[in-house]
Amino acid sequence: MEARKLSQSRIVVAGPGSSTPATRRKTFLPFALPHITQAEIDEVVDTLRSGWLTTGPKTKRFEREFAERIGTPYALAVNSATAAMHLALDAIGLQPGDEVIVPVYTFTATAEVVVYCGARPVFVDVDPVTCNLDPTQLEKHITAKTRAIMVVHIAGLPAELDAIHAIARAHNLPVIEDAAHAFPAKYRGRMIGTMSDLTAFSFYATKTLATGEGGMLTTANPAYAERAAMMALHGISRDAWKRYTAEGSWYYEVLQAGYKYNMTDIAAALGVHQLARSEWLWERRRTIARRYTEAFSRFPEVETPPNPAHVEHAWHLYLLRLRTERLAITRDAFISALAQANIGTSVHFIPLHLHPFYRNTYQLAADDFPAALDAYRRVISLPIYPGMNDEDVEDVIAAVEQIITMHRK
Ligand SMILES: Cc1ncc(COP(=O)(O)O)c(C=O)c1O
Repeated sequence: MEARKLSQSRIVVAGPGSSTPATRRKTFLPFALPHITQAEIDEVVDTLRSGWLTTGPKTKRFEREFAERIGTPYALAVNSATAAMHLALDAIGLQPGDEVIVPVYTFTATAEVVVYCGARPVFVDVDPVTCNLDPTQLEKHITAKTRAIMVVHIAGLPAELDAIHAIARAHNLPVIEDAAHAFPAKYRGRMIGTMSDLTAFSFYATKTLATGEGGMLTTANPAYAERAAMMALHGISRDAWKRYTAEGSWYYEVLQAGYKYNMTDIAAALGVHQLARSEWLWERRRTIARRYTEAFSRFPEVETPPNPAHVEHAWHLYLLRLRTERLAITRDAFISALAQANIGTSVHFIPLHLHPFYRNTYQLAADDFPAALDAYRRVISLPIYPGMNDEDVEDVIAAVEQIITMHRK
């Protein structure tokens, strides 16, 4: 990066001794932005002109192409990962009173779907390095009521699926992956979405593949696929979406009290082009992650995210952890200083046991999950998205470096 270019994008706001960095961008760098090209815009316009706005040919094409990309026999497009996970739990026949293992370091969606079914999420602490479900803590939480294990790939870093699957097999339990962050990612050379009983992806606006709102459920089990497709559209008999086409029929039967979880063709119009460009989008995220890690590795005051050789990381998020014992600034103040420098950030995640609903309903204490609590107190999510240019990336690095330098112990 040329120094001349860098200096153009920043202005001086404070000097040494101030809690804000010495320089800041002229414009605010958002924490996340979708990457939309003319191809997506044209496809949405084509959909609007086609007269077919909701589930139809584009949704079916998106399902086909996503299934091909992942290498799975069944992919069901829905309106969120939350919906996909709810359908997954329905497909395995989860009943009120059952228990489901859920890593505590996640977004509420992973656990709330268990609650939808009248079942109980049983929280498990995470690995202190990866922030993913810790397989060594898993078995002690399995009881006679356990019906499934949910796995989350935090930030897009695949969890230790071999160890988790071995425990699941020993207890005859299905594994459901919350892969909201993990398209495209690989575990030991295999695509996420092809290894467990069911996998849910998210296409929310900030995700690695964005359709505004959207999700995909993948499985290799035809019975799960059939049940989920029916339940995603009111529990109506097969291919209900076709009833307004030339080959469709007005007659249908309601077989179950289902849900309204189908994806619209407007969303799928975005999806097909995001999917077609997914290699490029992924490569751009990987490049930014490499540059961040290269820059931040020089500072003992921070911990860069793990990226072990046996996985391929989706880099939905870049989780930088502060070694707060080496810094005279708190995590929250660090975030404020980055905001002063015009850098948007976030925190992933506030572990579920700290939220009033889960804390009160399941009587959980803050120190019940020490690894999750420690990660939460130290983590900052930095901007990482394909629309960031090299200058944006260098601005983030410069701001983080300045704050560290000003506040190191
Ligand atoms: C780990 C995790 N699971 C699930 C979800 C829910 O995804 P969606 O908004 O598509 O329902 C999110 C959303 O941010 C998430 O971070």
